[in-house]
Amino acid sequence: MSTKTEFASKIGLIAATVGSAIGLGNIWRFPAETQENGGAAFLLVYILCVLCLGIPVMLAEFSLGRGGRSDSIGVFRTLSPGKPWWLVGVGAILAAYLITAFYMVVAGWTLEYLYQSVSGGLYEGIDNAGGSLRELFSTRMDDYISTDVPPLIFTFLMIILNIAILLGGVQKGIERLSNIMMPLLFVILAAICCLTLSLPDAGAGVRYFLEPDFSKINAGVVVNALGQAFFSLSLGMGILITYSSYYPANTRLGSTSLTVSLLSILVAIMMGLVIFPAVKSFGLDDEPLRGATLVFVTLPEVFAQLPMPRLWSSLFFLLLLVAALTSTVSIAEVSIAMLQDRFKMKRTWATLTVLLPLFVFSTLCSLSFGSLSGFKIAGHTIFDFLDKFSTNWLLPLVSIGVCLYVGWFAPKNLLRDQLSNCGTIRSRTTGIVLFIIRYIAPLLIAAIVIFPLL
Ligand code: PHE
Repeated sequence: MSTKTEFASKIGLIAATVGSAIGLGNIWRFPAETQENGGAAFLLVYILCVLCLGIPVMLAEFSLGRGGRSDSIGVFRTLSPGKPWWLVGVGAILAAYLITAFYMVVAGWTLEYLYQSVSGGLYEGIDNAGGSLRELFSTRMDDYISTDVPPLIFTFLMIILNIAILLGGVQKGIERLSNIMMPLLFVILAAICCLTLSLPDAGAGVRYFLEPDFSKINAGVVVNALGQAFFSLSLGMGILITYSSYYPANTRLGSTSLTVSLLSILVAIMMGLVIFPAVKSFGLDDEPLRGATLVFVTLPEVFAQLPMPRLWSSLFFLLLLVAALTSTVSIAEVSIAMLQDRFKMKRTWATLTVLLPLFVFSTLCSLSFGSLSGFKIAGHTIFDFLDKFSTNWLLPLVSIGVCLYVGWFAPKNLLRDQLSNCGTIRSRTTGIVLFIIRYIAPLLIAAIVIFPLL
């Protein structure tokens, strides 16, 4: 009998995995990418990327995790001892840690905005702002994000919250959190969706989002959709390897990957149905829906023009906080699992070793918007550098490594055994999944890296 920790229930393991997948990637990166890449056509290509490439690569990570039953480095060492493949795991852990450092700051902002929505600070003075709501909220965003102290306080609170949850372990911490938070996320999102769809000019936004203009599809759109699909499924960060090492032996990997991917697509679509009708209705669609501006300026402009702005705003930032929290927990777990498995550290020590240094690293990221904004690494602020280096380089390289390993070099039948639970259930798709992992995914992922350089 293995002593390895496992998720206690099927619902719990799905909630945790979906919780990791659904994050700021779906909520603020997706609408921005959709707007920049031609609306509905992008949505279509993104869905195809998730289904045809994301799911097979997810299955490769699941097979590694459950087959190797260890952390992201340990799985390679267990499955291919003496070979250098564990370096792929090192890449995953490095990516995960760098992402944790800057994502924690963004998670802190969501907490700060939740606080400012509930306390009313964000909406103070909107009645006198007249036509310049945009200016008002842009100034507020500068005050809340680009100063030194307030964002740091909220980042620290997020780190403490993460420590509290992660000290609880896999079942009592991560699984319990996800079981409560994920249903909450869907309920809030559905409520906000109903609100925006009932706005006067909602139809125009819905059409923009759902009626594809195929002439807009080009190589750039495909590469961006692929990047979005991989980021939003949490691929290449060691998260899915780590979580699947906690899956019981009878978990059906195929249906789990399908459920997680469909729910992630569903949230992205619901988010589109929130954003596009809202911005069209209030004539805000000339604004670029770029990440932070979208959620911290454009959406408050929308809420300010609705009855009960504070209520809707609080609900929205609670949604964002839930999405961010279940993601930060999952990505921090990658490094914690590594310390527990590699160095046999106790849970408490491993958690503190991973999270306490963030008080320094995340501070540096947070100050990139304040007094360290002039400090540049290769022309980028610390925050941007970590973001670009990890998401544009490390994640795709790790995913290519995972595909090549599982496709060509892993013990024979690893994928087949894992997808069929060692022959106890039928898996009709193994052949096609293997084909994609071997021949198609590595090439297309390489395109994500190379295309922007051209
Ligand atoms: N899928 C996650 C998201 O959309 C990716 C992620 C997970 C990023 C964990 C950071 C931490 O945000």
